[in-house]
Amino acid sequence: MRILLVASSFNSLTQRVLVELRDRGHTVPVEVTPDGAAVREAVARHAPDLVVAPMLKAVVPRDVWTAHRCLIVHPGPVGDRGPSSLDHAVLDGAEEWGVTVLQADEEMDAGDVWASETFRVPEVGKSDLYRNELSDAAVAAVLLAVERVAAGATPRAQTGEIRARPALRQEERRISWGEHTTETVLRTLRAADSQPGVPDRLLDAEWFLHGGHAEDGLRGRPGTLLATRAGAVCRATVDGAVWIPELRARTGPGGPRACKLPATLALAGRLPELPELPAPVDPAPGRRTWSDIRYREQGPVGVLSFAFPGGAMSTDQCRRLLDAYETARGRPTSVLVLGGQRDFFSNGIHLNVIEAAADPAAESWANINAMNDLVEAVLTTTDRLVVSAIGGNAAAGGVMLALAADEVWCRSGSVLNPHYRRMGLYGSEYWTRTLPGKVGEALAARLTEEARPVSAAASLDMGLVDRVVDCGPGEFSAEITRLALHLASRGGLQPRIAAKKAEHERRESVAPLAAHREQELSRMRAIFEDPAASYHARRRAFVRKEAPERSSRTAQVRERADRPTVKQDLGQK
Ligand code: COA
Repeated sequence: MRILLVASSFNSLTQRVLVELRDRGHTVPVEVTPDGAAVREAVARHAPDLVVAPMLKAVVPRDVWTAHRCLIVHPGPVGDRGPSSLDHAVLDGAEEWGVTVLQADEEMDAGDVWASETFRVPEVGKSDLYRNELSDAAVAAVLLAVERVAAGATPRAQTGEIRARPALRQEERRISWGEHTTETVLRTLRAADSQPGVPDRLLDAEWFLHGGHAEDGLRGRPGTLLATRAGAVCRATVDGAVWIPELRARTGPGGPRACKLPATLALAGRLPELPELPAPVDPAPGRRTWSDIRYREQGPVGVLSFAFPGGAMSTDQCRRLLDAYETARGRPTSVLVLGGQRDFFSNGIHLNVIEAAADPAAESWANINAMNDLVEAVLTTTDRLVVSAIGGNAAAGGVMLALAADEVWCRSGSVLNPHYRRMGLYGSEYWTRTLPGKVGEALAARLTEEARPVSAAASLDMGLVDRVVDCGPGEFSAEITRLALHLASRGGLQPRIAAKKAEHERRESVAPLAAHREQELSRMRAIFEDPAASYHARRRAFVRKEAPERSSRTAQVRERADRPTVKQDLGQK
């Protein structure tokens, strides 16, 4: 079928639906459509068999849905209506939630039902839930709906309880520090995770708070700051405390949007003297605390996991992860797993921290070098097997970090973006060595030039990853450990490690890593130091969430989406 995707942004769910439909042989153009008129234009241009809206804030005009079958993905169960569905679900502490594929109709979310799915809600932030459990359920529902449309079925009317709820207002998201327990504070923070954040006053300024994790070892006067750790601040509640990793300054109406930053960076110059607590890599069982880097061991397997907000890795985060990697490398394990946690693996250098720096070019340089140091440590590990375990999505340098390992495993729901072009960068992280090594020169060139998302299944087909782990987001960590233990206990591991060492030495004598680094960094330096390079404008627009100029954005996505799929490319070889 020719299925037109219309979306308010080319976000994670839109990318996931795109790659899953393409993998099944459909032709899938994508249009980012800011309003109903743009939806109309897009439909007229593509004359699709079916229109699917994975994430659309605009209303589909009546003349469009009466002439074309339009399916809308609503992030709530059948009967749920309104624009803040997931926010309400997280705030209310729902244990189960759903996603529904509806036919577009006069009233928003009121159309007939083509398919619906339900899922358990873990204690995670809204955007993590959206990218993972909800995304899996939405894809299953969309695929079923498409099958039903193809089979000539008809949708069913919405029956049962109808629950229409208005958008959550900012006042409803406020935390009352003198009254709210840790659990209420956490739910409030999780429900506003990513967007819009929880509005609050802190150290005589207005902020949006982003992210929240329980702390059971610190107490203080409710609302006061107690400590800092790895860029986060710890704030007392009435019965405990919470770690808040990121803040965004509230700017006046009409002013430029501030970028979300590690909390201590956002508060620089305002923070009182506070203890900087070390991040425990392996907290005692049952402890509730927060650390963005963890390490655990089970027999011959070490698992070094990390979870940085938005998958972004600043200079400091890269250096701390490298330190932890070096420590893990000193342990007597034969398999070292890098990653293995749910949600983002990595999205490369931290564009927000770079944007906020006094000298963004210098910070870009520091960040890419810190990232390269980490990747180099993985590439030069010759005394054990390293496995990258991608539990969620990964992009740009984050994909290349994963490719530095001997094996790359990813969850079946992951979407990979192995390219830098959308940020106007040449790229580094030794990608010129690892990407062609995995998929061959021709496909590497295509992937980087076409800059398209790739599904886990297609990544496996093309050799970008070595194993797809088919499990839910909440099972990934345990499943990875089980598979790594199996790998460590299989015969042939030591000869394989010896062969890897020999191969590394051979390659170093032919095309040393240092040469790749130098060549990539010379291209990157030229971009960083050129104020007219598109990287600077793209980065600014990305971190400030400024709408890219409409015609170029639409054209960009359309061009990328209309090209044949990588699977098709492979098939033609
Ligand atoms: N630096 C800083 N923040 C980043 C980031 C990065 N490299 N990559 C993602 N984020 C943030 C996003 O701004 C977003 O923040 P929000 O929660 O405040 O909205 C959050 O992480 C999630 O990203 P989002 O874009 O909403 O997720 P997505 O799944 O829809 O899209 C990507 C994922 C990776 C395609 C997109 O985030 C992207 O293009 N990132 C930049 C990748 C890059 O160019 N890295 C630098 C070169 S190494």
